[in-house]
Amino acid sequence: MRAPAERCPMRIVLLGAPGSGKGTQCKRIVARYRLQHLSSGDILRRQRQEGTELGKKASSFMDSGVLVPDQIIVEMMIDAIKKAPTAGFILDGFPRTVNQAVELDKSLARSDRDIDAILNLQIDDKVVAERMTGRRSCPKCGAVYHIKNLKPKVDEVCDNDGTKLIQRPDDSPEVVANRLKTYHKQTEPVVDYYRNNRTVCDIDANKNADEVSTLIFERLDALARA
Ligand code: AP5
Repeated sequence: MRAPAERCPMRIVLLGAPGSGKGTQCKRIVARYRLQHLSSGDILRRQRQEGTELGKKASSFMDSGVLVPDQIIVEMMIDAIKKAPTAGFILDGFPRTVNQAVELDKSLARSDRDIDAILNLQIDDKVVAERMTGRRSCPKCGAVYHIKNLKPKVDEVCDNDGTKLIQRPDDSPEVVANRLKTYHKQTEPVVDYYRNNRTVCDIDANKNADEVSTLIFERLDALARA
């Protein structure tokens, strides 16, 4: 599928369970539509790596697979949106509670903006477990691989910059089970919140990564043309 010729300053929210492929698809979406990728998980991991106060506060929540408190996240993400160098962005991992969604709406309304598309990656829990245990990430550029499904060209080495790939500490089976529990309890209601007043576009994320991208691009291309 050919990319749209023009820059499309869309504001997109990407929802989905841990391991549904949000990060993987975001990398493709930002390349195609030239948007800013704003991932709450990536920002938190960066803060942790840099040893900031925020990173220290978030660490124990992340390691046990529960959500970082709303107050910290809302401030962090609204600040990231304000500082985004382009008009269009895709939010990955935020909002994750109804309260976060309400605060995001309020903040966008203050600047007379709204969300243009809400994509919801739907996946079975049993597929998530397999994906998470095989995930490998690049600590330098954030590229995401899988030991079977999306292999790097050279085992355990990032295609982009040759950095040795790592396994995320929160990808152990126990923590993944906790993250899924947290998702069903606290984040699924966010999907219902959006269904009440906006169109949510459900995407079957059990399919392979290219098929999922095609489904997403069909929706976003239509939006870009509208
Ligand atoms: P975060 O980093 O956001 O983690 P997550 O939502 O749990 O999502 P993941 O990054 O684990 O998965 P993904 O959907 O991006 O999948 P990926 O593309 O990597 O959050 C981490 C923690 O930070 C949270 O637990 C929480 O503590 C905290 N946090 C973050 N945001 C917060 C918020 N808003 N509020 C409070 N706390 C917050 O794919 C997974 C694997 O599958 C990869 O190996 C990939 O190669 C492979 N794969 C991807 N797609 C496919 C496919 N279609 N077929 C086969 N394999 C595939």
